[in-house]
Amino acid sequence: MGSGIAQVAARSGLMVALTDIKEEFVERGLSQVSSSLQRDVDKGRLTAEAKREILARIKPAASLDSLADVDFVVEAVTEDLKAKSDLLKAVARIVRPNTILASNTSSISITTLASATGRPDRFIGMHFMNPVPVMKLVEIIRGAATSDQTYETTRALAESFGKTAVEVNDAPGFVSNRVLMPMINEAIFAVYEGVASVKAIDEIMKLGMNHPMGPLQLADFIGLDVCLAIMNVLHDGFNDSKYRPCPLLKKYVSAGWLGRKTGKGFYEY
Ligand code: 3HC
Repeated sequence: MGSGIAQVAARSGLMVALTDIKEEFVERGLSQVSSSLQRDVDKGRLTAEAKREILARIKPAASLDSLADVDFVVEAVTEDLKAKSDLLKAVARIVRPNTILASNTSSISITTLASATGRPDRFIGMHFMNPVPVMKLVEIIRGAATSDQTYETTRALAESFGKTAVEVNDAPGFVSNRVLMPMINEAIFAVYEGVASVKAIDEIMKLGMNHPMGPLQLADFIGLDVCLAIMNVLHDGFNDSKYRPCPLLKKYVSAGWLGRKTGKGFYEY
């Protein structure tokens, strides 16, 4: 997600600093940006020169300290409250007081994350969809203290990336994952209970509902660990058993079968 966000920002003309816990991850992100842009070059929608210029606008940042002068931060680390809070706390100490911090969290409370930063009025949810260069939506989530100015700046930024921004209030899973994830979880229950095969379930949803991917293929694409983390946020956040993660999802995650990124999930890659 991070590299996709860097890509759309750089493509809109902004200078981007891209950082990660290891330099090799930044390199991997840059090569993902390069191959994603190459699709457009191959299709004649982007010149090779423009591709080079976009890539040149993304500067690998060796440490958080090099973020001191940025105007806007989008955090896209693993879907874990502590990991996100610790990082956001550290970033808030480095950047200028007026810099807006945004989280690309899929489900974690924006109000809770904001409280780690000491600048809750300049904190917001900016939830991109995967694959970021393709998907039109950015869900923008206001925390309890997010200011109107922060919201307007973030909305304008998302639109400058060519995205459609849709505003929602802070609630577990926001709107996108509150609706999407129970569908995916229910599809996993259907596998677990032997209602139909993985292929059959996906075919029903693709052909019957006109979804571009079946729910199990989409779960593999998102990452089963991310799906489980989101279901846990919904379950804990609403205290409602209707959001309980399917035992089969938990089992796959325990086995390290996380979907596309590990080569195995509901399908083999
Ligand atoms: N970078 C750039 N372009 C890409 C791309 C990438 N990584 N992946 C696909 N594309 C482009 C292709 O170049 C192609 O462009 P064109 O039609 O203009 O020539 C277009 O997307 C379609 O790609 P393909 O023909 O290769 O493949 P598909 O038609 O199967 O589409 C897909 C791929 C766009 C991923 C489609 O299957 C899809 O929309 N899937 C559902 C995605 C989805 O639901 N995402 C949301 C997940 S939930 C989420 O992100 C929230 C999180 O919090 C969990």
